[in-house]
Amino acid sequence: MLNKPVELYRDTLRIIDQSRLPDLMRYEYIYTLGEGVRAITELKVRGAPLIAIFAAYLVALLAIRSREKKLKRLKSRLLRAIQRIENTRPTAVNLFKAMDEMRNIIQRAEKRDELLKLLREKAEEIDKKEATNCEKIAEYGAGLFEEGKKYRIMTICNTGYFATNHIGTALGIIYKLHERGMLDRVYVPETRPLLQGARLTMWELSQNSVPAILITDNSTGFVIEREKIDAIIVGADRIARNGDTANKIGTLNLAILASYFDIPFYVAAPFTSIDLTISSGFEIPIEKRSENEVKWIRKCLITKEDAKALNYAFDITPGFLITSIVTDRGVFKKPYNLGQ
Ligand code: MRU
Repeated sequence: MLNKPVELYRDTLRIIDQSRLPDLMRYEYIYTLGEGVRAITELKVRGAPLIAIFAAYLVALLAIRSREKKLKRLKSRLLRAIQRIENTRPTAVNLFKAMDEMRNIIQRAEKRDELLKLLREKAEEIDKKEATNCEKIAEYGAGLFEEGKKYRIMTICNTGYFATNHIGTALGIIYKLHERGMLDRVYVPETRPLLQGARLTMWELSQNSVPAILITDNSTGFVIEREKIDAIIVGADRIARNGDTANKIGTLNLAILASYFDIPFYVAAPFTSIDLTISSGFEIPIEKRSENEVKWIRKCLITKEDAKALNYAFDITPGFLITSIVTDRGVFKKPYNLGQ
């Protein structure tokens, strides 16, 4: 197996550059705030839990590498860095929760050495906690399926190793079903425009010998019917108290199809993806990305140069379309009143 997608490595942060996978497998070494911010905005590091882990390590790294000896100045530099990191991608709440934890440490520390040590420990803790979260989600999620049967599952985007540094959320459940001999195969929509399904999920599943079939995004309805899909499992970037869920663009389409074809639609996410401060999906900020991601595939222009394009990176699935939300704290069923 590969090294981790994100890892503190000596005095640097080593990442697998996901933007070029699978044709180019490349490590990148992050030393500065600018490089870290670009890694997030250019989706070299992506997926809600992984962005949070990376950002926490980045703050720890900036503290370790700083030559600033005065505690007060070091603190204000790090707080400014956190603000910049928070301005990268607005939708996944995990990033903001991790940054709040780092901010608290910075505000409370009384000595420079203590600050460096605590920041590093906190980043490692956030990373390790994600491993346990993924294991629990996989266990709870697999428990929703009847033993002795084999299932055809559809998913979207990438919610595995490349999104969590560990076995994953929706993909973690899929791995568990496979391990228990309960998986027939996985159907993976390509996930336009950045193709996380085609590039990352297909690659990751084949590395783990999980039977997977790539399909086009616009074929999902027909495939659910013809191939007799049993259930859809997706990840989440932010979940409101009423269960409304922001996830990769295309998730809402899948939820509507699941309701039409009367099959279960599960959301799998760590409890940290639930934003208890908001009551509904209307309050979730949705990232809009560059038109060029739609107009170009790699170096190939696929429309008129002056064509207008619209590129929402996420959509919001209303809670009432979600059969259950699987978290590390157990399975929640609709109607949702999370945090009660
Ligand atoms: O734009 P991305 O690739 O960061 O989007 C990722 C997703 O939408 C995932 O489904 C979500 O972050 C959950 S990952 C466990």
